[in-house]
Amino acid sequence: VRTTTSPQLLALLPVERGSGSPLHQQIYEGLRRAILERRLRAGQRVPATRVLACELGVSRLPVLTAYEQLLHEGYLEGRVGSGTFVATTLPDDALRAPAASARSRRAPAPSVTALAPRVRDAGRLRPFRVSLPALDQFPHAMWARLVAKHARALTPAHMSYGDPAGVGVLRAAIAEHLRASRAVRCEAEQLLIVSGSQAALRLCATVLLAPGDRVAIEEPGYPGARSALGTTGATLVPVPVDVGGIDVTALEKLSAGAARMRAAYVTPSHQYPLGMSMSAPRRLALLEWARHRNAWIIEDDYDSEYRYVSRPLGALQGMEEHGRVIYVGTFSKVLFPALRVGYLIVPPALWEQFVAAREALDLFSPTLYQLVLADFIREGHFVRHLRRMRGVYLRRRDALLDGLSRHCADELELLNADAGLHVATTLRAGADDEDVVRRAALEKLSPAALSACYLGGERRSGLLLGFGGFNERRITRATRTLGEILRAQR
Ligand SMILES: Cc1ncc(COP(=O)(O)O)c(C=O)c1O
Repeated sequence: VRTTTSPQLLALLPVERGSGSPLHQQIYEGLRRAILERRLRAGQRVPATRVLACELGVSRLPVLTAYEQLLHEGYLEGRVGSGTFVATTLPDDALRAPAASARSRRAPAPSVTALAPRVRDAGRLRPFRVSLPALDQFPHAMWARLVAKHARALTPAHMSYGDPAGVGVLRAAIAEHLRASRAVRCEAEQLLIVSGSQAALRLCATVLLAPGDRVAIEEPGYPGARSALGTTGATLVPVPVDVGGIDVTALEKLSAGAARMRAAYVTPSHQYPLGMSMSAPRRLALLEWARHRNAWIIEDDYDSEYRYVSRPLGALQGMEEHGRVIYVGTFSKVLFPALRVGYLIVPPALWEQFVAAREALDLFSPTLYQLVLADFIREGHFVRHLRRMRGVYLRRRDALLDGLSRHCADELELLNADAGLHVATTLRAGADDEDVVRRAALEKLSPAALSACYLGGERRSGLLLGFGGFNERRITRATRTLGEILRAQR
């Protein structure tokens, strides 16, 4: 497709052979700069790869590589066969406050490649995206009523500096809920409100890990935990998981070295990303490891409320008496991620240190939303919402399983679909999951690559398919498209 833009575009792409920078990199950077500087406008069509390659006097491959990268990062959007366009919402816009946009346009753009995939994908609600709850099912009217009520009634005390541990009524409401539904041992006095589990894990790093310490993480595991736990200069030690959860025998062997293994990060209720829950013997072995090694366990209980095959399993934290477990929870999956409310249950011996670190980080979380959330829980709306959502997610999960068996059965193997808001799958041998993710992005689908969850060299290739955020019709349609993408790749 020839477009009138290509002569102007050529002026923006001074591609130089032998400059030391690969051609695809030069094309990528030139196009990205042109988009960020608004020389290429949102929605504008860019030339077909063949046309641009011809006009630049290069082969098509570097142009294709550059386009794929820009599509993947959200600067371009398009459909195979109907052209490629400058995206209407740029990834950088999502990262920039509107008032600051004029200033930051002149400032160097943030390095998108350095950001986590979830941040790069901010605002893109596309089928298969992991970590998305059913935002269309949220009880907006009730929430709005509570927000309005508390906004009107804010006292000067509520508008001033708050308690770094969080608002008392919210801490009490969460502690009560956790005791009843998660078999957690806790009092409100041990519960610290923070801005989501990411902040909770960041605090764990600050309090527990000094430079040179070692921390065990599940392999494969949650990339967000890697970035948070690595911030203080500790060494991340990947420990394999099997059907029972983290391999405690391997953990014990890896703990025997000179440098102390200070902590282990685990997702016992629903292993991220593979989906199984930690078996009872494994839980006991892990607790014994922590006691014997004088180490901490960081339990991330991020989406344990949703189990489809049996009742939700109790938390690991509730199984021990020695105060070795730091329990991390979040409202990101059970309500919505933009709320940014998570919490930690901290053993008494660590309480003062955690509160001091939390205060040093960002003082405290916004009081208004803590008050709203406290009422939402205390008035019973939270438990009602959870109960209703279990049915919604079950139907969405079943639509995904049905679609996968009809459209992708020869291409994907399902690992576990017992719980949570996503399923993990593996691809047939030799298939490159990052490549599938790039191709899926062209079709406006956002699966995640399983291989990105590994820290070590040996990686399984597969796809993580989120089903929480999309209705059955969209999920079914998405599985059909995914099947086409996977077959076309053979
Ligand atoms: C393993 C795991 N922990 C925690 C979270 C939630 O993070 P946050 O509470 O920071 O939104 C997620 C969401 O994707 C997750 O997958």
